[in-house]
Amino acid sequence: MNEQPWIAMDEYLCDRTQVPDETLEAALKSSTDAGLPAINVAPNQGKLLQMLAQLRGARRILELGTLGGYSTIWLARALPADGTLLTLEAVDHHADVARRNIERAGLSSVVSVIVGDAVDTLKAFVRDGIPPFDFIFLDADKKSYPDYLRLVLRLSRPGTVIVADNVIRGGRVAEVDSDDLDVIGVRTFFDMLAADTHVSSTAIQTVGSKGWDGFSISIVS
Ligand code: SAH
Ligand code: DHB
Ligand code: MG
Repeated sequence: MNEQPWIAMDEYLCDRTQVPDETLEAALKSSTDAGLPAINVAPNQGKLLQMLAQLRGARRILELGTLGGYSTIWLARALPADGTLLTLEAVDHHADVARRNIERAGLSSVVSVIVGDAVDTLKAFVRDGIPPFDFIFLDADKKSYPDYLRLVLRLSRPGTVIVADNVIRGGRVAEVDSDDLDVIGVRTFFDMLAADTHVSSTAIQTVGSKGWDGFSISIVS
């Protein structure tokens, strides 16, 4: 598939809808310099996340999968000064890079990076009875999306918005007989959404600088 026109189009759209942002660009550069994979959301996707959180009026945000903190910065900018964003990351080195980027962005007072397997951290949150989140972004390992959904629903309340990244995977998620654990994870995630009468969902395919993928959006009732 020739992705060139998608990339040119994304560049045009970002140029016309965003102002150059040194903090976000520095976050990407420091991530690349530190050897992190370039699997962050695209700039226009990051801004969509921020706008969705803003539309929700989110005061408490949960993110699964921090990487270098690029999407974290977008989301945290949607928060009021006394807001909270907890972001969960398994890899120490990723968390270190992210904390530096979040500090540079002036967001350390609202963001906490929590290192560990997200399933363990979420179980601890449920056990501790922490307050529910207004907006949740799932973007850690895709094979665990079913576990993540089960747990984050226990950290939600009516009106909580759940966005899950990478639910298209270049169209592979439509393959019924896939033995790819990520694809199976995303398909099971969609089965759970379909069966849950307290969650209203949609999912959108995207093309652009990050290839062919997409995200789901759910509202808890
Ligand atoms: N949200 C980031 C990209 C996240 S990439 C952005 O758009 O900027 C996915 C991240 O999830 C990686 O940093 C990876 O280390 C982390 N991850 C993978 N498995 C995990 C797990 N079980 N628990 C927590 N984080 C995990
Ligand atoms: C992968 C993970 C992501 O979160 C993403 O946006 C793109 C790719 C991956 O693990 O390949
Ligand atoms: Mg992603």
